[in-house]
Amino acid sequence: MALLNILEFPDPRLRTRAEAVTKFDEELKTLVSDMFDTMYEAPGIGLAATQVDVHKRLLVMDISEHKNDPMVLINPEILSSEGEEEMDEGCLSVPGYYETVRRAEKIRVRAQDQNGEFFELDADGLKAVCIQHEMDHLEGKLFVDYISNLKRDRIRKKLEKQHKQAARA
Ligand code: NI
Repeated sequence: MALLNILEFPDPRLRTRAEAVTKFDEELKTLVSDMFDTMYEAPGIGLAATQVDVHKRLLVMDISEHKNDPMVLINPEILSSEGEEEMDEGCLSVPGYYETVRRAEKIRVRAQDQNGEFFELDADGLKAVCIQHEMDHLEGKLFVDYISNLKRDRIRKKLEKQHKQAARA
């Protein structure tokens, strides 16, 4: 088991646009496994590679109650989306803050698995929200980008203060 360091807002590395995964090798499988360990330990329901400073198009999720439904999406693409939904979102890179974000209600996604095999899936509710949130990370986007500048600045200042205190401790 290996835990990876999760970058926190406003770390500029979170703004990196991730590149396509082209090699489906052992290194990728180790990364996926480490990302699951890191996500479950945090604990969180989703983690994008961007958040652990690996700028590849890869995300892991598990929205099940008993943490027994791991999902890996590599090079994910939204094929279609429908409706709108508002949900309170949090993020392991913005610890302690929750804000309402509006996203598509239903999505159809195409992605690859760890072996490079393509698959498609339909998602709604929390699963759809989580996939859209994690895919945003791969574009260098955070859920706080959807809220007012004033609120985002307030969160940024508080987290910066916490990071300084942590560095001193
Ligand atoms: Ni997040």
